[in-house]
Amino acid sequence: MIVFILGADGYIGWPLTRSFLARGHEVIAIDSYFRRRAALELDCEPLLPSPTLQKRMTLLKERTGLSGRVYIGDVTDPEFLTGLCRRYEPNVIVHLAEQRAVPYAMMNARKAAFTLKTNLLSTISVIYAVIEGAPTCHIVKLGSLGEYGTPNTPIPEGFCEMTIHGRSDVFLFPRHALDVYHLSKVMDTDLLFLFAKSDGLAVTDLMQGVVYGVDDSGTPPDLRTNFQYDHVFGTVLNRFVAQAICGHPLTVYGGGGQMRGFISLQDAIECIYLAASHPAGRGQLRVYNQFTDTFSVIQLARKVQAVAQGMGNDVRIQRLPNPRREGEDSFYQPEFRGLRELGFQPRLLDERALERMLRFVGAYKTRIDQRKILPDSAEFAARTRDGESPGARDEVVVC
Ligand SMILES: NC(=O)c1ccc[n+]([C@@H]2O[C@H](COP(=O)([O-])OP(=O)(O)OC[C@H]3O[C@@H](n4cnc5c(N)ncnc54)[C@H](O)[C@@H]3O)[C@@H](O)[C@H]2O)c1
Repeated sequence: MIVFILGADGYIGWPLTRSFLARGHEVIAIDSYFRRRAALELDCEPLLPSPTLQKRMTLLKERTGLSGRVYIGDVTDPEFLTGLCRRYEPNVIVHLAEQRAVPYAMMNARKAAFTLKTNLLSTISVIYAVIEGAPTCHIVKLGSLGEYGTPNTPIPEGFCEMTIHGRSDVFLFPRHALDVYHLSKVMDTDLLFLFAKSDGLAVTDLMQGVVYGVDDSGTPPDLRTNFQYDHVFGTVLNRFVAQAICGHPLTVYGGGGQMRGFISLQDAIECIYLAASHPAGRGQLRVYNQFTDTFSVIQLARKVQAVAQGMGNDVRIQRLPNPRREGEDSFYQPEFRGLRELGFQPRLLDERALERMLRFVGAYKTRIDQRKILPDSAEFAARTRDGESPGARDEVVVC
């Protein structure tokens, strides 16, 4: 297959690029370096410095003989992407190139607007690049389980049948985004659905859970993906692991009863690969939920605490005001069928997986900058809207 990976410099994009290349596919790797620039601007650089995408591709070729083409550019520019589609006629476009940090989108109006603009314009640009440059190309788009919120019903994979006054039809399952980032993902899905119907596009939208994990399967340090543990770009489990290692309390927003779906980086790559290798039909928006475990945030913190303590770390849990208004201890039951039917075999988050992450991050303990773990008080107070800052509540220690 000829595969475009948009967002190839990212946490998921780079190991996904390696994975497609290792399985013999031709990869065109595209990124604007937005995340690198934003991390620099906010002083939130990853645990390990990673060479640029161009340098990593050169290193990969020198070490393994595998090589893909790299383009640095903004995929919200339709001419850029349509030009590449006309030139290479890809079979699959994997669209990861979005602003994906909830805290970033909550910082101020400019960053909220940037998130909406980048995410929606990148999706519409992918749609038109396919229509004009490669009409049979399958689009694999990364959405989020957070699009659904936490309804008091099971969450089907994308669609549900509804009967109103005795008449039935199939609809996209109602989505309840709780922040601007997730709302942008909901609107992405609506755009893709529209163009699947109107222009016969083949689309898979993956409702992905929170991704965790490190790139440790024998990968040399300069070929590893980035690992963010900061308050902006770090996802929850990756942050907990870094916090446990450096002796910072695990920071839980609100009571910690918020339910989330989770998936490891390796499994996320496997799922995306499977979806890409089994295209949706033309005119079809196919939605798969993509996660392996569900936990509340406090359950997750307790798991990390138990394993880290077993490894000799002193770990406490600290509750902070929640910047998002969301229900806690809700019913949460997303379905998970489609990817299993394609052959996916999930690996669950167990003690061994946590130990591996703790050991990996522990090896770089001296590189963890504790200043990056919490936002500064003024910024946090602005985010929580009721003006509470991290120091405003007593620390709660959970045994
Ligand atoms: N990481 C998670 O926990 C998670 C969970 C659910 C969904 N997702 C989705 O998966 C995708 C990838 O996530 P990630 O964690 O690898 O994020 P990431 O920020 O590490 O990677 C995204 C990459 O896209 C690039 N990018 C952003 N806007 C661009 C643009 N306009 N043009 C070109 N490149 C652009 C960034 O520079 C970055 O390298 C995102 O769409 C995200 O919303 C991630």
